[in-house]
Amino acid sequence: METITTSAIQQNNTIDFLPLQGTDYVEFYVGNAKQAAHFYKTAFGFQSLAYAGPETGIKDKVSYVVRQNKLTFMFTTPLRADNEIADHIYKHGDGVKVLALKVEDAIDAWHQTTARGGKSYMEPLTLNDENGQVIISGIHTYGETVHLFIERKNYHGVFMPGFRKWESNYNPTETGLLYVDHCVGNVGWNQMNKWVSFYEHVMGFRNILSFDDNDISTEYSALMSKVMSNGNGFVKFPINEPAEGKKKSQVEEYLDFYDGEGCQHVALATNNIVETVTELQNRGIEFLKVPTSYYDDLLQRVGHIDEDIEPLKQLGVLVDRDEEGYLLQIFTKPVEDRPTLFFEIIQRKGAKSFGKGNFKALFEAIEREQELRGNL
Ligand code: FE2
Repeated sequence: METITTSAIQQNNTIDFLPLQGTDYVEFYVGNAKQAAHFYKTAFGFQSLAYAGPETGIKDKVSYVVRQNKLTFMFTTPLRADNEIADHIYKHGDGVKVLALKVEDAIDAWHQTTARGGKSYMEPLTLNDENGQVIISGIHTYGETVHLFIERKNYHGVFMPGFRKWESNYNPTETGLLYVDHCVGNVGWNQMNKWVSFYEHVMGFRNILSFDDNDISTEYSALMSKVMSNGNGFVKFPINEPAEGKKKSQVEEYLDFYDGEGCQHVALATNNIVETVTELQNRGIEFLKVPTSYYDDLLQRVGHIDEDIEPLKQLGVLVDRDEEGYLLQIFTKPVEDRPTLFFEIIQRKGAKSFGKGNFKALFEAIEREQELRGNL
């Protein structure tokens, strides 16, 4: 019999059958992992952590792992054409393949989710080296994206077996990024509720917020969104689907260029958004801009905030308030040539929501970019 800890009991007193300790790492399939890792070090301030490839006994791919505080990213590139990773990159371009979740028991996580209808991606696999043991299992989610369950409580090495420590002479300073706040999935027309149901029934998540096309529409385009959260709130996955508007939804543009469903953005938390975003901009990260008129009545809309308005206005940082506090957020432009994956930088000051008050200004900014690409 398993011991049930208090953290495994959800607020509604049902047992959380899939207790998650947070995001373990995000793996990107990319065309050139060596250069991608360099970009994320240079521009976002990640630090070299681990490497796997032919030198460590892996013949068909290389992976570079970088870390900043509790954020771990992995970039993987195949060494030859005839494999699943190469096909993934050909179809989708660079993008998120794996949203890996840290668990106490990866074998149980696989049994619990597959028994509830989750499609297995990886049966539990035990990896050993001189630093201990990591157990991995996984299931499919939307598109070709997967969730891996990572059990590393008996591991003391730098990352996991198969990887060696990556030491580099190039170590740019960090930018204050802390952890993954949430990861958003874009799914096809009429698919949102299917994936909401998947997260509810297969993974034990709850729908904590919903936005319909009245909340998220501009003059031209629309989308719908539901936010799914695990029991302890450490893992949040909003799911978007396109909605009918006068012109093409931003979600539809993503689906066209990603050639299917996938991860739209990863939100990265900071404790000082002004410092972080100043640093990111200095390093070449491009952000969506809202008109400066957004700031004219900001304090009337959100009430008192600790920050000075001027730096927020200079950087284009958005502010929204809910019943519990406020949040500051800003969105990058897509970080690759296809208009697909981008990042959000978010600082929460009590607020647990997602910036509903900013949707209109934000989506108008996205549409201006879509228009420039000829995709509106
Ligand atoms: Fe977000």
